[in-house]
Amino acid sequence: MSKSPVRVAVTGAAGQIDYSLLFRIANGDLLGPDQPVILHLIDLPVALDACRGVVMELEDCAFPLLAGTKVASDPDEGFGDADIAILVGAKPRGPGMERADLLKDNGKIFIGQGEAIDRSASKDVKVLVVGNPCNTNCLIAASRATRTSKANYHAMTRLDQNRAMAQLAARAGKPVASVKNLAIWGNHSPTMYPDFFNATIDGTPVTEAISDHDWLKGDFLTRVQKRGAEIIQARGKSSAASAASAAIDHIFSWATGAMTGDYVSMAIPSDGSYGIPEGLIFSFPCRITAPWTYEIVQGIELNDFSQAALAKTTEELVSERDAVKDMLA
Ligand code: NAD
Ligand code: LMR
Repeated sequence: MSKSPVRVAVTGAAGQIDYSLLFRIANGDLLGPDQPVILHLIDLPVALDACRGVVMELEDCAFPLLAGTKVASDPDEGFGDADIAILVGAKPRGPGMERADLLKDNGKIFIGQGEAIDRSASKDVKVLVVGNPCNTNCLIAASRATRTSKANYHAMTRLDQNRAMAQLAARAGKPVASVKNLAIWGNHSPTMYPDFFNATIDGTPVTEAISDHDWLKGDFLTRVQKRGAEIIQARGKSSAASAASAAIDHIFSWATGAMTGDYVSMAIPSDGSYGIPEGLIFSFPCRITAPWTYEIVQGIELNDFSQAALAKTTEELVSERDAVKDMLA
């Protein structure tokens, strides 16, 4: 017997990330090849005609798993009964900007959307914030969670993990799948810390597989930390297909337990682990222990270099939190 459909609400439905994301979801990449989905496309009123065009294209793909669509600009209608909400809709940065420069404009979006999700979505809704600055936007939305669970409000650092894995694999001349336990700590910003000290390539510590430690501590870190800006410089627009793919990876891992045994980077409400202030939306190495169940990996060794990196990204997230204190419930 076929499964009942899962409702997936996506904001920014007329934008460039969703032009990739919606088709991947409808194809079964988010929840697996036997799980029907109903897509809720949410955008501003001015973008609803464009959303209807996207729906026409979704229909024209004849995806067997697409059990329905809905287009909405009203957040309560859009998030109504949603099982999963992927919050993409927000301004992207342009050349020369940092993501935190978007906070004043984008932060307020997540007040109303957080409230609507808590009121109207499924009680067990799983939320992934992609719109930047995603950690602090997620903090704003999660602060509204009273009926829904705060632990289910995540921000996306999986793109950074994927970028770091790809860079290490290329440097070592190995397939990307040979890189394990590469975790991103902290903020989705230039202070993020891709922890190569605890990662392996084909079971060998990265610091043995790659002997050039100056490269690891220098160009590798900077490249991953600033990859978003490098793409904006080259494309004139921010990353889109790779961002959509990372959102799929985040939810697919969480939903299915895929990558069990390996680390997945998820920016989640801190429980105080590793001394990170409680409640801050901080990217940790996580392990999926069962479908929709995760834990922060404990006992990871952090040397002086790593501790200094964690302190820097924590300090930045605390200052972002201070900057939006008026937006927190
Ligand atoms: P885009 O400008 O192409 O699309 C954004 C869409 O969001 C537009 O259709 C716009 O109308 C819509 N929107 C704006 N406010 C909205 C609201 N209140 N409710 C619903 N929809 C709304 O932008 P994009 O390239 O798709 O990027 C979207 C966001 O994702 C940006 O903030 C970007 O910086 C961020 N991003 C994050 C990551 C990450 O790794 N976390 C990666 C790439 C991009
Ligand atoms: C990215 O990392 O590609 C996104 O966050 C977009 C950006 O502004 O860099």
